[in-house]
Amino acid sequence: MKRTKIKQLLVTEPTGQTVVVKGWVRTFRSNRFIAINDGSTINNIQAVVELNSLEESTLKRITTGACVAVGGELIASLGSGQAVELKVNQLEILGDSDPEKFPLQPKKHSLEFLREIAYLRSRTNTFGAVMRVRHAMAFAVHQFYNDRGFFYVHTPVITGSDAEGAGAMFRVTTLDAENPPRDENGKVNYKEDFFGRETNLTVSGQLEGETYALALGEVYTFGPTFRAENSNTTRHLAEFWMIEPEMAFYDINDNMQLAQDFLQYLAKYALDNCKEDLEFLDKRAAEEEASKPQEQRNELGLIDRLKFVVENDFQRLSYTEAIDILKNSTPNKKKKFQYLIDEWGVDLQSEHERFLVEKHFKKPVILYNYPKDIKAFYMRQNDDGKTVAAMDVLFPGIGEIIGGSQREERYENLLKRVHEMNLPEKELWWYLDLRKFGSAPHAGFGLGFERLILFVTGMTNIRDVIPYPRYPGNAEF
Ligand code: 4AD
Ligand code: MG
Repeated sequence: MKRTKIKQLLVTEPTGQTVVVKGWVRTFRSNRFIAINDGSTINNIQAVVELNSLEESTLKRITTGACVAVGGELIASLGSGQAVELKVNQLEILGDSDPEKFPLQPKKHSLEFLREIAYLRSRTNTFGAVMRVRHAMAFAVHQFYNDRGFFYVHTPVITGSDAEGAGAMFRVTTLDAENPPRDENGKVNYKEDFFGRETNLTVSGQLEGETYALALGEVYTFGPTFRAENSNTTRHLAEFWMIEPEMAFYDINDNMQLAQDFLQYLAKYALDNCKEDLEFLDKRAAEEEASKPQEQRNELGLIDRLKFVVENDFQRLSYTEAIDILKNSTPNKKKKFQYLIDEWGVDLQSEHERFLVEKHFKKPVILYNYPKDIKAFYMRQNDDGKTVAAMDVLFPGIGEIIGGSQREERYENLLKRVHEMNLPEKELWWYLDLRKFGSAPHAGFGLGFERLILFVTGMTNIRDVIPYPRYPGNAEF
């Protein structure tokens, strides 16, 4: 018989019909009550074993972590806490799990411990919930753009360009690391490498995305991106997923509006479609909050934070205005910031971003028009000669969740910036050329998918919202 998913059984009218459930044992109580989870939902189904109906040797093998196939009758539950339960007629152990060795016990484990057994943490309520929400958000991303006539473009993972001009890239090579070919100056000769040149894993699909925006109009990429920066924080990964829409004929204001609409859509989608998982995560986050000092606690719970984002416009604010607010803020005057704000032009740290969002405005903030010297070369230069049409969306508990800009569509301006910043003009030839052939005003942004998942699940470490996190010193699994 074909198995039915638990998610479906839990909303099925119980009439004693025969069904088959396959899943993993969470707990087995009193030699009678098996809580089974199959990952389709956060909720378990309770299977009840009649006394003396199973061999003693089988009963012994029903242990936490074991995989079972259970056939039985779906009946209204006699116990409280669930509407239906399964009266077991048949039980087969598909995979044993030695209770002495299985690392997951039916109790709360620390997230740090679970990271060390990431290949099993998917069996916990928390990771089940997070990954189901992650799936829903990926689906919603495509739904959002498809509904608006955007085209999904698959930009390359291996590239020859450094899109952000930041240089923190992973090299891709097939050369022998022990004994690479060398040129006449003794330098590694990448002409002999697989692609006949230096290549790396992409840090962003933006540059290639732009070439498609100036052909298909409105496009987006959604793929893995890689950064070899040595950032050991709760907000950085070396491999993360990014959604990058790119739109012809948009200016910075259109870009800001799309970013707000997009984030509000995603938050609403989660509220509408991930109710049970969010309720679980909301409770989980509240328990975690309770162990923090009062002043560090969130004023709103997880679900209320999502609702708040859906219902409120984001605060738009220029970088210059933000600096004024920060300069005169209490933590700056009392020297509470680690990095004090004293002059225009400095880059904002996450403590500043979070002050603006969490303490000053108490809502998401979009900062725009940043000093050109702290932003990427491709951003459109404003008439003041000092700023570029950049925008960052800042979220409570996260800081920067989106970074984007209007792009410099004027060839001369772009070339000048490439020179000023000492970027390799030769490698960027096609990107520059795009400005020679039918250039157009355009804009776009990048949403860090894991930072979104942090926000939507209330998790606090980015290593816990991706199945297998990659960060300095760690590529296990
Ligand atoms: O601000 P970033 O570096 O912007 C870009 O890459 C642009 N090319 C985007 C564009 O305009 N198309 O990165 C965009 C977002 C950040 O706001 C952040 O959410 C996320 O990507 N991000 C990271 N997420 C996890 N780990 C990291 N190391 C990240 N670096 C950036
Ligand atoms: Mg950024």
